[in-house]
Amino acid sequence: MPEFFLPGKPTHLCQQVETVKMFKKLQEKWGISGWRFFWVMCTFFFTGTTAAWVTAKITLWFNIEKWSVSFWILKLCILLIGYQILLLFFGAIFGQFRFFWKYEKKILRAVGILKKAPAYRIIIFASGAGSNAANLIQYFNHNSKKARKAQVTKIITNNPSAGVTEIAKNENIPIDIITKAQFENGSYLNDWIKNADLIVLAGFLWKCPEKMVKALPQKIINIHPALLPKYGGKGMYGSHVHEAVLANGELESGITIHFIDEHYDCGEIIFQAVVKIEKGETPQSLAEKIHHLEHAYYPPTVEKVIKKAKAKLNQ
Ligand code: GAR
Repeated sequence: MPEFFLPGKPTHLCQQVETVKMFKKLQEKWGISGWRFFWVMCTFFFTGTTAAWVTAKITLWFNIEKWSVSFWILKLCILLIGYQILLLFFGAIFGQFRFFWKYEKKILRAVGILKKAPAYRIIIFASGAGSNAANLIQYFNHNSKKARKAQVTKIITNNPSAGVTEIAKNENIPIDIITKAQFENGSYLNDWIKNADLIVLAGFLWKCPEKMVKALPQKIINIHPALLPKYGGKGMYGSHVHEAVLANGELESGITIHFIDEHYDCGEIIFQAVVKIEKGETPQSLAEKIHHLEHAYYPPTVEKVIKKAKAKLNQ
């Protein structure tokens, strides 16, 4: 903020502005309303004050010398155990128990008292070359930190000669090759419901049957190589999309990542990115640009969906 806006004591005001900004950032990070933020802050205040009071009292009762080894051991115990219990206690009083229990669970998992949450299991469906599938596997399975949170555990294809079969073999990921009849009559549906937390379509060309969509609500994501709702629907896949976009003289195209519903290329849009169409653009050059966007944005968008779903489960 420019200095001339700050009459009186500039440093003092600047500090206040910074504190308000910090609080706003925290509130955004935790994703809670203003009132909830207030009660959370009250919990911290009462917990901190009570913890300090208890420490002082114990120091007095047991005649513990300040800054001695016993004093630091006491401080550590209060911080590691007493403070956490007090947080939950005051959190419950201010109606914020769930908020604090979420963080306590994280600590208990980190120190090995609670079992670590299992990794989210992603099943990829693909019909083609599989560059998106390979990219998703690289992003999740080859990064140990991310793999603890989510992993591609299976691949499904309808095409035995699809590039994705080779990828599955190289990555040692089980793959099922399914027929249209099996897909439509839901032979595999129970298996997917049991073994997938998220289904990610990466160039999969069949429309998901209604039964499947209903059984896995908000759990099937698709990527489409255009800016939906334009250039979607039956027959709109791969190069057909780019040809139609160019034939219509569009100035831009892009990618759409969306949840699946019972219709072709519909469902709630999660993310879109745009690319400019240059003079002399061909379906091949546009496809290349689109692939570039897909590889950059599909994995982090899937990761965000997983984070949101996990946060919802923990609420
Ligand atoms: C991707 O461009 C994807 O957007 C598209 O198929 C391509 C698959 O490429 N999907 C659709 O057209 C769905 N309607 P890949 O096999 O290299 O991942």
